[in-house]
Amino acid sequence: MKLKLYAKSSFLFFFLLLVHCHPAFLQQSGSAASKEIKILPQIEGAPEKRERYEIKGNEFVIATDHPLASDAGMFAWKEGGNVVDSFVAASFAVSVLRPQSTGLLGGGFAVINLNKGKLRKAFDFRERSPEKGIAELYLDENGKPIPGKTLNGPYSAGVPGNIQGLVFIQKKYGKLPLAKVLEPSIHIASKGFSVYGDLARAIQSQWSLMNPEMQSVFGREGRPLREGEMIYQKDLALVLEQIQTNGDAEIREGETAKKIVSYYLSHGEFITASDLKNYQVLETEPIFGTAFGKQIMTMPPPSSGVHLITIFHVWNELNQKKTLPGGEIRPILDLTEAMRVGYRDRANLGGDPKFTAIDVNRLTSLNYAKSEAAEIEKKIVSGAWPQNSSSSLKPESYNTTHISVLDKEGNAVSSTQSVNGSFGAKVLVPGTGLILNNTMDDFSVAPGVPNLYGLVGAASNAIGKGKTPLSSMSPSIVLDEKGNSLIVIGAPGGSQIPTTILNTLYRYQVEGNGLYESASYPRLHHQFQPDILFVEPEAKSNFPEVDLPFYQVQYTRHRAKVFAVAKEGDKLIGVSDPRGDGIPLGF
Ligand code: DON
Repeated sequence: MKLKLYAKSSFLFFFLLLVHCHPAFLQQSGSAASKEIKILPQIEGAPEKRERYEIKGNEFVIATDHPLASDAGMFAWKEGGNVVDSFVAASFAVSVLRPQSTGLLGGGFAVINLNKGKLRKAFDFRERSPEKGIAELYLDENGKPIPGKTLNGPYSAGVPGNIQGLVFIQKKYGKLPLAKVLEPSIHIASKGFSVYGDLARAIQSQWSLMNPEMQSVFGREGRPLREGEMIYQKDLALVLEQIQTNGDAEIREGETAKKIVSYYLSHGEFITASDLKNYQVLETEPIFGTAFGKQIMTMPPPSSGVHLITIFHVWNELNQKKTLPGGEIRPILDLTEAMRVGYRDRANLGGDPKFTAIDVNRLTSLNYAKSEAAEIEKKIVSGAWPQNSSSSLKPESYNTTHISVLDKEGNAVSSTQSVNGSFGAKVLVPGTGLILNNTMDDFSVAPGVPNLYGLVGAASNAIGKGKTPLSSMSPSIVLDEKGNSLIVIGAPGGSQIPTTILNTLYRYQVEGNGLYESASYPRLHHQFQPDILFVEPEAKSNFPEVDLPFYQVQYTRHRAKVFAVAKEGDKLIGVSDPRGDGIPLGF
């Protein structure tokens, strides 16, 4: 009866078209998937061995978005450090190497799984709204957002937390002296490195917005640095040396703090000495759910980890439904509908849990997933599907970064960090080499007004003193039945972060592709608003030219880049997304 109803809709026509005319990309075998990978972007002029951004090891593997950052992680490990030292060394290094993505004046999240699952923690060292951070600052006399104010310049920055977070985690859970862990980043900042394509493009595109101090670091003779030229960050090297001596006191009340305060004295006094001094790193408990049959631990709110868990659970419920259409449309439908639920919740509920109630237990419960899946089933089977509105995602460059580390004992760190938009606020604090973030844009400046990533939010994510903005960053670790780390995963990519983790784990755990194939696979993305199913262009030849019956489809490059390390038998395998510039390292 239900099937008859369903057949009455126009869906059957499209469904048959899809089955008979188009081999769906979703059901490619591993080898077919490898063909797709070849057409994803590669580093220009990269050596042949980088064709697969993959490494196998026995002891230790790290995956990051720059070869020298992975190398910094290796250095710390070989000096006798543990996964925490390795992560912190890589993080400081990547701040030097990818200032367009992250930096010491940014913030982030990390989850750790140590001592065979006995020590599991989550850390929030994300930017906070300063004491002066109130919504009215960003609105004109008519209550409309002032264009660009959350994106560029001094008011776009939240109180940074990266240095405090890294120092806190390393001191408590690392083994090496902090000074040792900082050595690679100091070396890279002072000796310089060659500007690579993504950095050159970011410098070029943000050049006109940069303050003069920033232009002098990222330019030469008054023009943007070009790919292949060396970049030196001497002031940044000095700050890193000060951190070697002073730890996070440097950013709280040291010379660096004074320089930030002095910059703000002539720029609205938005961030103050007391904001820097009183910044608190939050050490908390991770949250848990089930991802494709395995336990997953991830970051609690204001991360989107909670919504990622809902997505996994709703997928699981939908996947068991007998009444929904079968065939090649089905994987698309289950994934897309699950994403839609997670992003709807994010938009309606997401925010800083210190200021707004987010019922994590409910959102991660199986009953919740069951009732959501039942609603979806009802709508599909009855044909009562809402019509789509047209809109698109704003194009954005690759920012933010992720680091995944795993050793043979199952000790793991998964951490995502950011300055938010490309080069954050586009402000270099004079005399420091440090760039302010523009993470105030991650708040909803007004209800329904989309941010840089087209995400809308509710009052729960409104700007307010001391608040932490909602984030898509969702560092995660999949666990085996004993609670040991099996897959360490995360991604940069704004709103596409949770769906990247979903896509990659789906290809790996459900379809059984290799980790590298799974990372490279063309992705699907739906973020509730706009109500569009985004599909990577590489999938287009295998995808119906007509829109899927329920979805308005747009073919577009996926912004996110996944960095993952997994344990496969006795081996460790690490991958850095070929959409990015990094390589994994290990031995
Ligand atoms: O925390 C967030 O959700 C954003 N600041 C992340 C930004 C990002 O990943 C940019 N990458 N394209």
